[in-house]
Amino acid sequence: MAWLKIVCITFLALMIVGCGSNEPNNEPKEDVVVQKEEPKLVSNISVEKQPFGKTAAGEAVNLYTLKNKSGMTVKITNYGGIVTSIVVPDKNGDMADVVLGFDTLDKYLAGHPYFGAIIGRYANRIENAKFSIEGQPYQLTANDGKHHLHGGKEGFDKKVWSGEIVGEETEAGVRLTYLSPDGEEGYPGNFEATVTYLLTEENELKISYSGYCDQLCPINLTNHTYFNLKGEGNGDILDHQLMINADQYTPIDEYYVATGLIKMVKDTPMDFTLQHAIGDSIGQTPNGYDHNYVLIDYVGATRLVASVYEPKSGRALDISTDEPGLQFYSGNFLDGSLVGKSGKPYPKHAGLCLETQHFPNSPNVPHFPNTIVQPGKIRRTTTIYRFYAH
Ligand code: GLA
Repeated sequence: MAWLKIVCITFLALMIVGCGSNEPNNEPKEDVVVQKEEPKLVSNISVEKQPFGKTAAGEAVNLYTLKNKSGMTVKITNYGGIVTSIVVPDKNGDMADVVLGFDTLDKYLAGHPYFGAIIGRYANRIENAKFSIEGQPYQLTANDGKHHLHGGKEGFDKKVWSGEIVGEETEAGVRLTYLSPDGEEGYPGNFEATVTYLLTEENELKISYSGYCDQLCPINLTNHTYFNLKGEGNGDILDHQLMINADQYTPIDEYYVATGLIKMVKDTPMDFTLQHAIGDSIGQTPNGYDHNYVLIDYVGATRLVASVYEPKSGRALDISTDEPGLQFYSGNFLDGSLVGKSGKPYPKHAGLCLETQHFPNSPNVPHFPNTIVQPGKIRRTTTIYRFYAH
C-alpha cells in the first residue's frame, strides 16, 4: 500500500499549495491525482460478500452470493463451507430455492444434520473410530455411538474457513481454506483443505476439493447439500426420479457402517441404473436409502454419475465427478423438528443428498480404493452439479 501513501501525500501537498494561493489554479489537470480503485474481478458472474454474523467464539462469518446472467443464484458461507441456497428456474422460468437450510448463522450454530456443509477430514463412518496406517494405530473421536461420523465432533462443517473471491470470465465464486492441526479429532498430521465453489454461465456449481497433509493420513472430502427440486419446504423427494450410474453398492450393518462387502444392485431396491421414482422401492429398505454406490468407469476422469428429475417443476440435476463413490441419503433422520428458511418444517425425506466420495470406512477395508495420501502429495477431486429444466 506504499503507493497509496505516496498518492495521498501528493494529493495533500497539492491541496495545501492550492489553498495557500489566491491565484486561479491553472495547474494542468494531469496533476490532480485520483485515488485508484481495487481491481475488480472480470467476470460474467457476480460475487458479493456480506457479513453473516459471528460464532460463539466471536469469529466473523461471511455470506458469498454468486449470480450468473441467467439468474441462477448460489449462497455460500465460510462457516462450514455451507451452501445455504441455490435458486434455479423450473420449466416455466419460475425460480425456487432447491436446497434445505437456514437464512441466519445462528440457526446453523444451533445444530443441524450437516445441511449444505463441507465434510472432512473423512466423509461418513469409520468403524469403531479407529484405523491404522503402516501398523500405527489412530483413535478418532467417536461421535456416532462408538463410530466416527463426518470428521468427528467438530468436523470441517463447523469450522470458520478463510474465504477469497476467485474467478475468471466464465466462472467465478469463492475459494475456502481451512488448516486442521495435527491430532485434530484424532487424525494424524497438519492438514490443509481447500474447497473452491464456482458458478458457471451453464447453471453449474463446480466444487473442487484439494487436501494436503504433512503425514500419511486419510482424506475424503465431500459436500452434504440436501436437494429438493420442487423447492425446499415443498414436501418430500419420493416423487423425484433418480438415476445412479452404478451396478454395485457397499452394504451397511445396523449402525450404517460399510461392512466391506460389495454387492450387485440388480433385483434389489438399490437399483437406480434406470431412472425411476425414489418412492418406488424405498418401503423395502430398512429406513430409506443411506448407502454408498460403486460408480462405474472409475479411472480418475470426471463423468456423469447421477441424474435427478422432478416431474412437476421439470427441474433436473446432473452430477458429474471423478470420485469412485456416491452416498445416496434420502433424508431419513429428518423428522419435522427443523424449520427451514421459508418457515416450513423439514419432515422425513424432505431432501436428498448425493455425496460424491471415496467409500466409507476405507481406512479399515484394504480392498476399497485407497484414501491414505502420502505426505506432501495433494489429493484433488472435482464434482459438478448442473441444473436445468424440461
Ligand atoms: C450421512 C449419513 C447418514 C446421516 C446423515 C446426517 O449422509 O450417511 O447416516 O448421518 O449423514 O444425518
